[in-house]
Amino acid sequence: MKIAIGCDHTGIALKEALKTYLDSRIIPFEDFGTFTEESTDYPRIAEKVCKAILSGGFDRGILICGTGVGMSIAANKFNGIRAVVCSEPYSAIMARRHNNANVLCMGARVVAGGLATLICEGWLNAAFEGDRHQRRLDIITRIEQRNSLPGVSQLDESAAKEEPQNASKLTDEPKPNQDTQPLSPASGV
Ligand code: RB5
Repeated sequence: MKIAIGCDHTGIALKEALKTYLDSRIIPFEDFGTFTEESTDYPRIAEKVCKAILSGGFDRGILICGTGVGMSIAANKFNGIRAVVCSEPYSAIMARRHNNANVLCMGARVVAGGLATLICEGWLNAAFEGDRHQRRLDIITRIEQRNSLPGVSQLDESAAKEEPQNASKLTDEPKPNQDTQPLSPASGV
């Protein structure tokens, strides 16, 4: 099993603790950043990790932000990604057994290294049970297919090239772009 791991600026220390744990179990991984505590936009890291999984190079992903919530929301925008945010081992184990979750998200401001390691261990060790759970995941897949915009590839790089690369640039040089423009009057409030 090969793991793609990533975090935003809040998750550097927790990511390092989890990398040490993965090393101790001789589980191969690649770190997709971020690598410094400079403020970073978590969706960019989620996108890198999810693309790495969907391209077939990695089996599963681990994403860390302050709460794990933003990472899980971003990751679940990708068809075929089943991301869960967990702060205790039971949900992480069941997320494998029943939901075949392929991305584990955790909050660095929620769980400390010891608990996060147990959560990760439970998630890594548990196996998907298939059967009725596969039927339910198939329903989710069909929902994804029914609600995907035709002709829009999730692996299309062109839109991402138009975006600023990190949060500090957003602050220093505000530019109109897909991330900062309100999607509707309500979303700009
Ligand atoms: C960063 O302050 C924080 O918003 C981010 O790490 C994450 O928790 C978002 O969901």
